[in-house]
Amino acid sequence: MLKKTLIVVVSVIFTMTFSLMLLSNAEAVKYVGAKKCKACHLKQYKSWKKTSMSNSFENLKAGVKADEKTKAGLDPAKDYTTDAGCLKCHTTGYGQGGFTSIEETPKLAGVQCESCHGPGGEYKTVMKKNKKAWKENGYTSEELKAIGLIIPSEDEKGCMVCHGKDSPFNETVDAKYKFNFKERLEKTHKHFPLKYKK
Ligand code: HEC
Ligand code: HEC
Ligand code: HEC
Ligand code: HEC
Repeated sequence: MLKKTLIVVVSVIFTMTFSLMLLSNAEAVKYVGAKKCKACHLKQYKSWKKTSMSNSFENLKAGVKADEKTKAGLDPAKDYTTDAGCLKCHTTGYGQGGFTSIEETPKLAGVQCESCHGPGGEYKTVMKKNKKAWKENGYTSEELKAIGLIIPSEDEKGCMVCHGKDSPFNETVDAKYKFNFKERLEKTHKHFPLKYKK
């Protein structure tokens, strides 16, 4: 009887510790950074890399884009690279378990894949694990959406978090900042046909 109780106690402790480990692990890999996606989506990566989004952190440095900053009412001589008010839109996953500072999370600087497609910790692992099976049986976007993937064209709100009125660079400052959802979807990165999607 005592032995049985002991086994139960030990296995409960073991399960709890193990799930805690899994939990903290999942937390740690929530945002993985564009380099991880590049391994399998090289064409999208290369195309995104050429956009201003990949370089967006640089724009927070003093002296960069001075005329644009002045026009938007910002101080061009100021270093904004540690300003939480700017980081939330110029980095990936700021305040949500992603970017914290350029020293701690250099791989999450700029507006990366996961700013539009959602944190990839879980769906990236599934993509990796199922690549072979998908070749034979295909997959549905629904499966991936259930574990965090965002299909950006489905909801403009995901873009407006950053492209709305909270941005110092909105259409009231200059018409060129106006956000036209359809046009912008095309300019995110070049799009290529998916092979295995059902
Ligand atoms: C180990 C390889 C691998 C990694 C790493 C990977 N993916 Fe994928 N991903 C795939 C495969 C395979 C598909 C299916 C492609 C196809 O159907 O041609 C896919 C599909 C997608 C799709 C299309 C989904 C749909 O249904 O429309 C998106 C978007 C995507 N991946 C984004 C990402 C992002 C963002 C990352 C990084 C966080 C990432 N992937 C990392 C292999 C990977
Ligand atoms: C996390 C904030 C954030 C989100 C979310 C976001 N963007 Fe952006 N986007 C930016 C920033 C910041 C820039 C400007 C980069 C710079 O110049 O510093 C930008 C620039 C762009 C550009 C211009 C790229 C170029 O070089 O021409 C396009 C296109 C774009 N975004 C489309 C979208 C679309 C479509 C969505 C939604 C699916 C979206 N963005 C979601 C922050 C975001
Ligand atoms: C609510 C989100 C948001 C915040 C907050 C934000 N930005 Fe941006 N920023 C954007 C977006 C979106 C763009 C791109 C606008 C476009 O392409 O239409 C942008 C563009 C820029 C540009 C490039 C403008 C150009 O014409 O090339 C600079 C520089 C910039 N931001 C600096 C800053 C600084 C500095 C801060 C903090 C004081 C800041 N931003 C805060 C979203 C934001
Ligand atoms: C500014 C938003 C934005 C960013 C950043 C972004 N994507 Fe996308 N991505 C899209 C849109 C829009 C689509 C088209 C699918 C839809 O929404 O209907 C797409 C589609 C895809 C697809 C499906 C195939 C294709 O080419 O259309 C893959 C794979 C993908 N993205 C990977 C990536 C990777 C990898 C990165 C980073 C290197 C990235 N995306 C960055 C908006 C974005």
